[in-house]
Amino acid sequence: MSAKPLGVGLLGLGTVGSAVARAFAERSRRIDAAAGRPVKLVSAAVRDPHKPREAGDVPVTADPHAVLDDPEVAIVVEVIGGTDPARDLVFAAFDGGKHVVTANKELVAKEWNAVHEAARIARRELRFEAAVAAAVPVIAGMRGLGAVRPRILRGLLNGTTTYICSRMETGRSFDEALAEAIAAGYAEADPTNDVDGHDAAYKLAILVSILEGRHFHPDNVRRTSLRGVSASEMTNAAARGARIRYLAVADFGERATKARVGPEEVPAGSLEGQATGPTNVITLEADLAARLVWSGPGAGGDATASAILGDVIAIARRSS
Ligand SMILES: NC(=O)c1ccc[n+]([C@@H]2O[C@H](COP(=O)([O-])OP(=O)(O)OC[C@H]3O[C@@H](n4cnc5c(N)ncnc54)[C@H](OP(=O)(O)O)[C@@H]3O)[C@@H](O)[C@H]2O)c1
Repeated sequence: MSAKPLGVGLLGLGTVGSAVARAFAERSRRIDAAAGRPVKLVSAAVRDPHKPREAGDVPVTADPHAVLDDPEVAIVVEVIGGTDPARDLVFAAFDGGKHVVTANKELVAKEWNAVHEAARIARRELRFEAAVAAAVPVIAGMRGLGAVRPRILRGLLNGTTTYICSRMETGRSFDEALAEAIAAGYAEADPTNDVDGHDAAYKLAILVSILEGRHFHPDNVRRTSLRGVSASEMTNAAARGARIRYLAVADFGERATKARVGPEEVPAGSLEGQATGPTNVITLEADLAARLVWSGPGAGGDATASAILGDVIAIARRSS
């Protein structure tokens, strides 16, 4: 094993960043063995350095540029979220010659061309396995399908809406189910991103972009909000042996790809119908590969950290 440690800097130490830092504290031997060299968490940038957190003993700073400018840091892990300031920080990381690993679906989905171009010019890696379906290695899986012609991609890509649908099946109204989702920590206080389909649209746009090898903008995904579904529609579907789930669908067709996210009926016994929380399900129908299904935990700190660390290890294995 090479003795020279590869340094990692975190931008963000919230749900996901803290889980990454804990993993470095608790399983560094496993990470080093998988990487074939020592990998070291150097520092983390946050908004409020005085906030108590369970994140091992990683040094914390309020200045993200202290992480970006640190010569010990070779890989920047961006887990702030949103586009501002994450976008500028990711570009600054490439400008400084760092590799970037991000969980930021919004940034990757909207700025696909710009972030890939920045990585190409910097001759550094951009990896974002955590941006879709957290622990489920669906991005790596789809990258391995370059020769197939995709027909249909269907996915349950947002755990909050799955949870709300499953609560509404028991007779709760949308508002009651949403309040439960917020109390259980599934939904943010502002649930727009989840229930109006932005989050699922970002993830679907990323998967379509990978399968088509070019940018598919999330504005091209037709979004139908979950807010319009009534509890009686849910219970009526259940009476017919069906469930309503918030589906993401891409139909690759002969001409332009059509993509949509919104509530749709699925068989109660299907993987989608059985899901009640953060479990994601992604099904791809394609020529050559027939039908492929991925399923597993699509949210949560540890599940997302698993994907991020997989990306960090992949970069470490390729860096001399
Ligand atoms: N949570 C999940 O289950 C999940 C799953 C998959 C993907 N993701 C993605 O992972 C990313 C992070 O999500 P999260 O749930 O960990 O978010 P979070 O808990 O809100 O954490 C965000 C972190 O960013 C820090 N931050 C905010 N503004 C900053 C700034 N200007 N400079 C430096 N640090 C700043 C915050 O600092 P303070 O702690 O000081 O406030 C916090 O530590 C997002 O892109 C999200 O979409 C999340």
